[in-house]
Amino acid sequence: MRIGDYEAIVGLWRRAGLIFRQAGRDSKESFKKQLEAQGGLMLVAEQSGEIIGVAVGSHDSRKGWINRLAVEPSHRNKGVALALVKTLEVEFEKLGLPVYSALISDQNKDSISLFNGMGYSCDEDVKYFSKRLGDDL
Ligand SMILES: CC(C)(COP(=O)(O)OP(=O)(O)OC[C@H]1O[C@@H](n2cnc3c(N)ncnc32)[C@H](O)[C@@H]1OP(=O)(O)O)[C@@H](O)C(=O)NCCC(=O)NCCS
Repeated sequence: MRIGDYEAIVGLWRRAGLIFRQAGRDSKESFKKQLEAQGGLMLVAEQSGEIIGVAVGSHDSRKGWINRLAVEPSHRNKGVALALVKTLEVEFEKLGLPVYSALISDQNKDSISLFNGMGYSCDEDVKYFSKRLGDDL
């Protein structure tokens, strides 16, 4: 992923229905910082020069995180997300990270099915807590 991919990625996230926080963590500025810090884990899938998939990996030295996974609707069910997640797993392994994680909404059946199929287990009783310094951050 490169900073020049930003607009295309934002378009893809919107078409994929992902919540997009332009004033905060998804701003171009924040995106640039993430690329500088952990750019090797931020991936796009391309076909004929067009971005058709995206995955934002990150890590906190304990776990590898898979975030913002999205595939262009017209390119789904062809293994694009599978390839992106597998690539991240290889990168996490190279970094010596023993656990890979993703936070997935209960309604997101496609994503749940994907991660189940890839051998991820689900903690059904976990609640996700967060604290934000603003509504759109
Ligand atoms: C979830 C999402 C990323 C999956 O992307 P995708 O590229 O369609 O996923 P894949 O093609 O790799 O896998 C989807 C299914 O196709 C199957 N598949 C993989 N390769 C295949 C192939 N060559 N031919 C047919 N099917 C294939 C997979 O086994 C998988 O089956 P499953 O649903 O039973 O698990 C996509 O639906 C999406 O962008 N959703 C909206 C955004 C979103 O919800 N993001 C996740 C936030 S956590």
